[in-house]
Amino acid sequence: MNSSRTGKDLYKQLRALPWARLWTEEVGRFDGAGARERFERVAVIRAVGVVFAESGPAGQAEEVKGWLRGLLRDPEEKVRRYAMAALPKIGAGAGEEAELLALLRQTTSAREEQALGRTLDKIGGEATLATLATGGGIAPRTEQRVKASVARRAQPSTVRLEAELGDFDRLRLHLRGRRGLEGLVREEVEEQGKFRVVEVQRGLVVIAPLGPFTLAEVFALRCFDTVGFSLGLVKGAGGGESVEGLAEVIASPLAERLLATLTEGALRYRLEFIGKGHQRGAVREVADRAYALCPRILNDAREAPWAVDIHATAGGASVELRPRLSPDPRHAYRLDDVPAASHPPLAACLTRLAGHGQDESVWDPFCGSGLELIERTRRGGVRRVYGTDRSAAAIGITERNFAAARLGPVEAHFLCGDFRDFPALAGLAPGSLTLIITNPPLGRRVRIPNLRGLFEDLFAIAARMLAPGGRLVFTNPFRMESPEPTLRLQSRQVVDLGGFDCRVEVYRKAGR
Ligand SMILES: C[S@@+](CC[C@H](N)C(=O)[O-])C[C@H]1O[C@@H](n2cnc3c(N)ncnc32)[C@H](O)[C@@H]1O
Repeated sequence: MNSSRTGKDLYKQLRALPWARLWTEEVGRFDGAGARERFERVAVIRAVGVVFAESGPAGQAEEVKGWLRGLLRDPEEKVRRYAMAALPKIGAGAGEEAELLALLRQTTSAREEQALGRTLDKIGGEATLATLATGGGIAPRTEQRVKASVARRAQPSTVRLEAELGDFDRLRLHLRGRRGLEGLVREEVEEQGKFRVVEVQRGLVVIAPLGPFTLAEVFALRCFDTVGFSLGLVKGAGGGESVEGLAEVIASPLAERLLATLTEGALRYRLEFIGKGHQRGAVREVADRAYALCPRILNDAREAPWAVDIHATAGGASVELRPRLSPDPRHAYRLDDVPAASHPPLAACLTRLAGHGQDESVWDPFCGSGLELIERTRRGGVRRVYGTDRSAAAIGITERNFAAARLGPVEAHFLCGDFRDFPALAGLAPGSLTLIITNPPLGRRVRIPNLRGLFEDLFAIAARMLAPGGRLVFTNPFRMESPEPTLRLQSRQVVDLGGFDCRVEVYRKAGR
């Protein structure tokens, strides 16, 4: 058996031991062993960290820390590395930080330096920052990592939604979303009048500000999914963009100005090669080089308020600075979710397609978590909403989300049951509704027997319950024409619903 396998097996055994036995028997054996046995049994150190964190007595923490501090002076590098990894689990403080910094000054091993960086990431404080300020022989990678984590723990950075961006004449913002919805995104941007549409591509609408603006104004638009400031396009030889090119764009004066204006706290970003997996090596190289060019901007995978997204495009790599807002301020009302919840921008797009009348009576037969009803009510002109869902949990969730959205005086009825029983459940006469808006079950995440029959029934009940001139707006996975002669197709577009195409259709009831 190879040594790493043996090490893993030993760790598994040790990790299962009760704390008292691990500490007295195994640590005792480790301490009394010769160099070779200690090397083979380093798993004891790891187990001590993990088991102590789970079940060690608080009163023994100092003793355990003392043991680990001693191991930081062990002649064997592997022992030292294991000790530094275990320390944060015990709750290391200033004493341990000083030991780690002393070791950082002495070490000549890149591996050990990285391990020290990881531990200082977790426990570093003032002393670490002071060492960084004096250079202290610390590698830039460690320096960046520690600076970011110390800043993160001191003050979690946030995005300033209300800060005004003026003087950014040539700025371009990339509004990204599902393919097929670009036209609605464009329409919404033009209606708002703060930006002009520069270009539309698959799943992307590029806009430019018409004057000073805030991110809050961007997030007043509801039909796009994510927004990023375009930092630049990096052309690469043979399709592979250069580390230097990407780093220059990330560390550019434009990026720094945007980040400085829009961030409360340290300027931290997470780097993502979109659609290419983790790319850890490339992320590290680009982030290291960007830090060398602009040490004020820090790469930090954890809780960063910004992402720098690298999108592969035909012309090269598009580098975009995206605010990471959680929750998205547009959907802060979403207290809870159902398993097949609508994609929020889709709900906003369905609402836009529905248009709006006065005194509307609106029904969502499959309301789930209530997004379509909430988005439609937000636009005004609604007197009454009805939501049905056969899941009682979903009805509870719609109720909570609807209340959290604070939509003003609207009569709301949320009813648990099959949509086919809606007229009886709601006590409504035929022709009582002006709008039916819904994202029905599409048979993807939850299997529905006779799904086509469900859509036929939806057409039939819509034809009955809509008033003349009323609209039915929904996502339809079938290529089917309305079996109801009174429902006339007004528009149809094909939208990517996350890996599969679906039709988004609008019907109008004849008669007005
Ligand atoms: C795609 S989800 C709806 C998502 C919803 N628009 C939202 O904002 O979360 C479909 C919903 O239809 C409900 N459903 C499925 N069959 C139903 C039926 N026959 N009658 C009523 N509700 C049904 C499911 O419980 C599920 O919550």
